[in-house]
Amino acid sequence: MEKKKPYEKLLNCVASSEEITSGNREGLADFLNYEHPGDVLFTKWKCPPVIEEGKGNKIWDVDGKEYIDCICGMSTMNIGHGDPRIAKVLSDQYLKLGHWFDFPTPERLELVKRLTEITPGDYKKKVRLTLSGSDAVENAIRAARSHTGKTHIISFYGAYHGQNTATMGITGAGSMHRWYNPVPPADHCVEHFPYAYCYRCPYGKEYGTCDMQCVKSIDMLMSSGQTSLGNPMAGVNNVAALIVEPAQSSAGYIVPPKEFLVGLRELADKYGFLLIFDEIQTGMGRTGKMFACEHAGVAPDITLIGKAIGGGFPMGAVVARAEVFDDLAPGYVVTTYAGGALGCAVSNKVLDIFEEDDLIGNCARVGEYLASVVAGFKEKHPIIGTYSLQGVYLGIELVSDQKTKEPAIKATAELVENMRRAGLLAQLNGYYNNRISFIPPLTIKNSDVDEIFAILDPLVTEIEAKYGVK
Ligand SMILES: Cc1ncc(COP(=O)(O)O)c(C=O)c1O
Repeated sequence: MEKKKPYEKLLNCVASSEEITSGNREGLADFLNYEHPGDVLFTKWKCPPVIEEGKGNKIWDVDGKEYIDCICGMSTMNIGHGDPRIAKVLSDQYLKLGHWFDFPTPERLELVKRLTEITPGDYKKKVRLTLSGSDAVENAIRAARSHTGKTHIISFYGAYHGQNTATMGITGAGSMHRWYNPVPPADHCVEHFPYAYCYRCPYGKEYGTCDMQCVKSIDMLMSSGQTSLGNPMAGVNNVAALIVEPAQSSAGYIVPPKEFLVGLRELADKYGFLLIFDEIQTGMGRTGKMFACEHAGVAPDITLIGKAIGGGFPMGAVVARAEVFDDLAPGYVVTTYAGGALGCAVSNKVLDIFEEDDLIGNCARVGEYLASVVAGFKEKHPIIGTYSLQGVYLGIELVSDQKTKEPAIKATAELVENMRRAGLLAQLNGYYNNRISFIPPLTIKNSDVDEIFAILDPLVTEIEAKYGVK
């Protein structure tokens, strides 16, 4: 098999690009020469900036160029960059106690109690702290399988749940698999189903008259004896858990109708499997509620938290019905740094800041303003096929034709590059790479919304003219 050499191409691009400034060029060359650069950065921009500094909702690259940050460390910096309250906590905690293994400390005990209180579900909970979102997903899957004694996991196409050995199979996003296949990991006990992506319903239905076919199809296959999920006629159910993002983030900030999560809860109850909500990106206030599933009034059996809880510090958590963890023997999971005093102290402070600054209330309020701005923007711009919005969780989708919904793939990539040039960073993604997610800090104000759309408006007009979208 011919070996792919993706980095040579990138290095050439970095070396030959005329617009890149010297510090960024040097930084990217070092990145490619000295690191395995991962899979994501160069899929967003041809020559991404090397970021050096951040304050509030602004970041600066190594050559001093300023950007409005609508990526927010992939939704980790929900409290904004450079909050001195976090800096103080980190320094105080380090002087008090830097680390003491995966064992209890007062900071840790405070955090786990608070996590059981803020997560959805009116039942006794227990927590497992982790160092990342992927760790949280992996721990949840292991616990679900161990607790139920079942093997199978239901997941969704377009889902992103992480990229470690255990989570790779659960992740449905093909772009994440492309460098790996056919190399393992492969978890054969995972079944993927289509997500409630109503604008492009895989069942060809229209929301409102679809009878939630995306939920029904799972029910139909679960109740038949013709899949590996089980055979109710023979009294066999192989499904340990269904894992779902309450809104699909890496696939383009796609918000499903409420009935989707409600229907999945009903399926979990009907067939007796655990329902896991991966709130690693949707969680922590961005949608105008602490967790996105609260909009549907549905609670899972396991909530997964990551990203924003750490305020930039690597933290994650599995918050489960107590009995799910009670079945696991002590020593089932251990990680040197999990639940470390520094991370827990920071996470507690992040939760304080959420309260002190009323970040969720702010998101809901600014979200209302944003809703009116985006609605007007779509009216004005025929290239906007659709958008999803909950609080300040915003994904827009670009099409070259409103009727055929042809994805405007080239135009979207070009727009994201032009936005970068104009000092606005947002995330290129989507099932067809024709969506842009806006992920600002939750400290966002109406005036920030105005600033973002003032930059966007002429750029979108220019792209529409260039690609003849009317
Ligand atoms: C929904 C979701 N789950 C899991 C993960 C994996 O988290 P991490 O990158 O911290 O391992 C991500 C990361 O983007 C995510 O968005």
